[in-house]
Amino acid sequence: MSDLPQTTAPATVKRGAEIEVLIESLAFGGEGVGRVDGLVVFVPDTLPGQKVLARVQRKKSSYAKARLLEILQPSADQVQPRCVHFDDCGGCTFQHYRYEKQLEAKSAQVSETLQHLGGLSNSPILPILPTPNLFFYRNKMEYTFGVQRWIPKAEANSGVEIADKDFALGLHVRGRYEKILSIDECHLQSEKSNAIRNFVSAWARKSKLLPYTTRDHSGFWRFLVIREGKNTDQIMVNIVTNEGGKAGIKAVDQLAAELLKRFPEVTTIVHSINRKKAQVASGQEARVLHGDGMIFENIGDLQFRISPESFFQTNTHGTELLYAKVAEFAELRGDEVLFDFYCGAGTIGIYLSQSVQKVVGIEVIPDAIRDAEQNCELNGIDNCHFICGDLKEQLESTESKLAGHGTPDVIVFDPPRAGLHPAVIERSLAFGAEKIVYVSCNPGTFARDAKMLCEGGYSLRRVQPVDMFPHTPHIELVSVFHKNPI
Ligand SMILES: C[S@@+](CC[C@H](N)C(=O)[O-])C[C@H]1O[C@@H](n2cnc3c(N)ncnc32)[C@H](O)[C@@H]1O
Repeated sequence: MSDLPQTTAPATVKRGAEIEVLIESLAFGGEGVGRVDGLVVFVPDTLPGQKVLARVQRKKSSYAKARLLEILQPSADQVQPRCVHFDDCGGCTFQHYRYEKQLEAKSAQVSETLQHLGGLSNSPILPILPTPNLFFYRNKMEYTFGVQRWIPKAEANSGVEIADKDFALGLHVRGRYEKILSIDECHLQSEKSNAIRNFVSAWARKSKLLPYTTRDHSGFWRFLVIREGKNTDQIMVNIVTNEGGKAGIKAVDQLAAELLKRFPEVTTIVHSINRKKAQVASGQEARVLHGDGMIFENIGDLQFRISPESFFQTNTHGTELLYAKVAEFAELRGDEVLFDFYCGAGTIGIYLSQSVQKVVGIEVIPDAIRDAEQNCELNGIDNCHFICGDLKEQLESTESKLAGHGTPDVIVFDPPRAGLHPAVIERSLAFGAEKIVYVSCNPGTFARDAKMLCEGGYSLRRVQPVDMFPHTPHIELVSVFHKNPI
């Protein structure tokens, strides 16, 4: 007997069956959606307007999921992707979709998500703001080293002998997070960043040390992180490795020296040593090999310091739009106490500091708090106070570092993708702030949190989607809630 749940779905859509689907829209997260005999079918890697052949992988009573086999008919909104790695790379999966259509799809996803996950129909959603730059918009790229290079189909079928199978430096393969595609061109950061990555890749490949592998946690080279100040032209190269003893130190020192000879414009070089198994591009120890171990970026008239571990919004020119919206939505008078929750390097609080009486920021990463404090000094700002700690703990603790800072008139939330913990919402509601400005990089968790804020006595006044990540399914938004009169 089948282990599939009992279903009323049409018989043609069975697990393993090949079906033809006309893709009608993009779901939140970017999967194509069509209907077959009335049943909703999700097909990843497809676009609205395409007719595709797909194999059903999973069938539930209300939907099915299928894998793309062949595009039978292209979409009228398909365009030629710019990148040679488009077919394999997990980076810009919508580079082949007309940009206006990408924006339409994201707008529709915000409104559907707010309705379905937040129960908020007729939300005041403004037209999405497009990114100021379609390409080369990122100020940070994180490339991964791998021991098994992903061989693209075209290369496998070329008849040419495959070289360098056991070394890769690049990005994750589309839909195969554990596989690494070696990249030699990328349209996300800059031509300079491409040249630096290619130089490091060639150098590390020739070295006697191997890329790290999660299979047995052996190997040395782990990540290459390049950060660029788009408004300052400063460049940080962070080489993240496993512990490699004297040979490892010598190799990275040599690489840094040669990198500098070739790219004297690199402002700082850092060697981060990650001895832990977690595959993260940061370390427990950092050696600064050149410069100050940080770079600067400007947003508006302000200068911000960025350390290797600090969060900084990755689309600088998009951030200028985003923060301007935060300021517009906050409608500050000048006498407010503003709490900047999840403040990172203090950027939003500092951006708003001249329009309020006082800013209090909370952030869990110590380096980011150090940056936030130095960012105040750098910009001659003296009305910000930054607290290092877990927000939930600080809100719940009887010995909270927030004590003595009064109650906020305005709260700014800018949480990670997971959104707000219910206890964070509950404690924040108790402050009774006039306004809450919520910046979100995940409309799904935003919708859930917005519902709780509305149930807790606030009204959602405006939602402004901002396209910070063109050609990807990611959506950023700024919103404002006003406290309901009692
Ligand atoms: C989306 S970033 C926002 C940073 C900043 N507002 C900005 O615009 O650059 C989220 C920040 O929340 C911090 N964070 C994550 N979990 C946290 C927690 N439990 N308590 C406090 N901060 C946290 C992260 O380190 C990160 O800096």
